[in-house]
Amino acid sequence: MGKIAPSILSADFADLAAEVERVRPQADLLHVDVMDGHFVPVLTIGAPVVRCLRPRTDLYLDCHLMVNNPGDLLDDFAKAGADSCTVHVELGDPRPLFDRMRAHGMRVGLVHNPETPLDAVLPYLEEIDLLLFMSVNPGWGGQAFIPKVLDKVREARRIVDDRGLAVELEIDGGINTETAALAASAGADILVAGSAIFRAPDPLEAARAIRECAWPTS
Ligand code: DX5
Ligand code: ZN
Repeated sequence: MGKIAPSILSADFADLAAEVERVRPQADLLHVDVMDGHFVPVLTIGAPVVRCLRPRTDLYLDCHLMVNNPGDLLDDFAKAGADSCTVHVELGDPRPLFDRMRAHGMRVGLVHNPETPLDAVLPYLEEIDLLLFMSVNPGWGGQAFIPKVLDKVREARRIVDDRGLAVELEIDGGINTETAALAASAGADILVAGSAIFRAPDPLEAARAIRECAWPTS
């Protein structure tokens, strides 16, 4: 059974604790999209929001840093209570960031954009806990899933299993009841979903439906 990570990007920021509580029974992690207005055009939230969420939920806080200078933020995210930070490989050698995350006791995530080849992340596979596949271009919720990313997920699944690694494969962008099944069969362990959960009339039911489509219980 895989994991569901609702993305709060599509939640009501003015009522965040209640939004999180609403999906809690079907959430395994909480995906926090941090955008700096430079790496992507949009500006969202940062460590202060993680600090406020931390005492309000026991969920794993999975922080996706879409920022030009993640190194400037890691200390703040660790202190705020982030369980992991995930950094973009497109910014260059992530190893110094991995070391800092480990030093803080955070788990380590690496993410790559849809057009970035899998080869760009493979050298780091043995050093990370989460490998995130963007299945939309980062920046906005509610975009359409890019199916060719599934080829990279399948290839990474094969490599991770062959090498007996514990790294979890996470996919982010355009996940709904249809694409969840595709992503899970390709080998994704964690499905991030924002708009399909928080913009649904019943977010808890939407998360349950995504889980059932991905990993049917009957
Ligand atoms: C996009 C973010 C995603 C976003 C996904 O840049 O990284 O986490 O919340 O939203 P949906 O699920 O609506 O595609
Ligand atoms: Zn994200």
